[in-house]
Amino acid sequence: ADSLGAIAAASGIRFGSTIGKGNFADAAYRALNARECALIVPENELKWSITRPNATTFDFGPADALIGWATSNGMGVRGHTLLWHSERWTPKWVTEHDYGAQPARGAERLLQEHVTRVAGRYARVIDSFDVVNEAIDSDTGVLRETALSKAMGGAQPTLHLAFHSARAAAPSAELVYNDYMGWRADEAVHRTAVLKLLEGFRKRNVPVDALGVQSHLGSKYSDSPTGLGALDETAWRKFLDEVTAMGFRLLITEMDVHDNPLPSDITRRDVEVAAHTRAYLDLMLSYPQCRTVMCWGLSDRYSWLNDFRPRPDKLPKRPLPFDADFRPKPMRDALAAAF
Ligand code: XIL
Repeated sequence: ADSLGAIAAASGIRFGSTIGKGNFADAAYRALNARECALIVPENELKWSITRPNATTFDFGPADALIGWATSNGMGVRGHTLLWHSERWTPKWVTEHDYGAQPARGAERLLQEHVTRVAGRYARVIDSFDVVNEAIDSDTGVLRETALSKAMGGAQPTLHLAFHSARAAAPSAELVYNDYMGWRADEAVHRTAVLKLLEGFRKRNVPVDALGVQSHLGSKYSDSPTGLGALDETAWRKFLDEVTAMGFRLLITEMDVHDNPLPSDITRRDVEVAAHTRAYLDLMLSYPQCRTVMCWGLSDRYSWLNDFRPRPDKLPKRPLPFDADFRPKPMRDALAAAF
């Protein structure tokens, strides 16, 4: 049978997944990725915590290994991510850094150098980059402040500088603002804030080409019913209409399906995860602006969700298209059918 990558490509869609530290060491898993994916995104290898051991050094070893493997297997590569507030993935030295007598100038220099070096190094390989990740506090709609943004005198100029530096370093790459988003009725605050941020980008000529919708489906309240019941289709379409009307493309950057609220029965869980996948993809792919679909992993064996939000019954989660033994699941058929 054709691979997911080939089936997607026949409809003009780029399909891929993430691979990284840990699971990248598994040769059988690498082979599964090489077979199914047209596109690879490093799971953690381009985050500051790995590329920036300290203020003066860059470590490109892990990213180079992964990206070298992807390209030598004929796959394209996305980049993730140049600026993220996450405390876990921001090295301590950034938070505790002495930005000097003119902190704004010092922080600016640090950020600009980081983006220039990372995006520049891979400019010929990475044709789409998550420049900024999750810049908004989804509960309040306010831009998140970090050590860098505080030194720079505000979150907004920090984000803008990241995009301008990325454009200069990788002029032909697609530059993406990436966020987990929410499609429930009660997540309007987040959607409104993202629209405002994107409007600001346009108004000030900040070079941003697309919105990356992470698509961790069913994720905000893990005890809520998975399924389209949680998706306010009218509100979500209205949001996507406004985003695309401003000229932004859309990407599905990190898709998986939380199965926490679903019954322990594996067959039923898999069927519901597949149905949810299909309905979501049908909606998203009805937008011609959405032509990239990335899963956040291919096999349940390596899903980050097992650690991030375990099931209450502690059973292994089943959020991805292949099971823990790399056998295709109904979700794989749903992806193929939606393409
Ligand atoms: C996750 C990785 O999968 C984990 O290995 C890591 O421990 C934490 O980060 N949204 C993002 C990704 O933008 O960077 C996150 O990746 C998953 C949520």
